[in-house]
Amino acid sequence: MPDLDGVKEAKSFHSDVPQKTEGFFLKGSNSLDWGMKNRLARIFNPESGNTVMLAVDHGYFQGPTTGLERIDLNILPLVKYADTLMLTRGILRSVVPPSMTVPIVIRASGGSSILKELSNEEIAVAVEDSIRMNVSAMAVQVFIGGEYEKQSIINMTRLIDEGTRAGIPTLAVTAVGKDMARDARYFRLATRICAELGAHYVKTYYIEEGFETVTSCCPVPIVIAGGKKIPEADALKMAYNAIQQGANGVDMGRNIFQSESPEAMIQAVNAVVHKNETPDKAYQMYLDLRNKG
Ligand code: 5RP
Repeated sequence: MPDLDGVKEAKSFHSDVPQKTEGFFLKGSNSLDWGMKNRLARIFNPESGNTVMLAVDHGYFQGPTTGLERIDLNILPLVKYADTLMLTRGILRSVVPPSMTVPIVIRASGGSSILKELSNEEIAVAVEDSIRMNVSAMAVQVFIGGEYEKQSIINMTRLIDEGTRAGIPTLAVTAVGKDMARDARYFRLATRICAELGAHYVKTYYIEEGFETVTSCCPVPIVIAGGKKIPEADALKMAYNAIQQGANGVDMGRNIFQSESPEAMIQAVNAVVHKNETPDKAYQMYLDLRNKG
């Protein structure tokens, strides 16, 4: 109990200044609870409204991916340039020091490998464990049009229900099957289904034609995956176009950690995402940083 003797009389009431009720900066997120918003504000920078998520969860279905053989040596030095680290709980607990305060997005679905049908996933991390790891969001793969479409959608809705009880947002990751057309019609369908069923934000792929229609009809933020490794200048252009066309960031893996200079690349991506740097200037920045070594 505070000492009650000598209490100063309260007088800073500012009765003439109405209390501000701030709208939340993130698309479609204003009606969420405080904890959920606070976690989203750790992932998305409240100033730019965007995020650079560094995705290194590929091992959960494909083992030691090129560039991720030694996450301790190759990835940890990049973390300071990322807003968020997306990874599995195995790597989090075995490799990432708890003193690293980067917000974590945990890969929470799994159960298939590249040797089998990838859409045959289930929830692979209990929400209690996500709470224990102090994560900022949980990621679940959703296979619209895939063989186990319904199972993957129900994985997502279960995670959303359980995450909502704990105040943890769910990121729906739209996975495109081999036979699916990667076009605006497909991505509108996939992202909108995820948002309609309650995903707090959605990850999808950038497409050259009609990407702005995917972002405009999805009521929650969209981040783009980087996809397979392409030349750095092209990856920066893709990130730039995605942001200009309504994406709220990137969840990029291979185009960063398989770059000739991952540390230079992530800084250039960061400039595009948070400072609207043009692709040409961002590429020059990449070259300068790379050459500096
Ligand atoms: C795997 C994922 C990856 O995190 C995602 O594909 C991002 O990585 P990349 O930029 O390498 O595509 O969700 O299922």
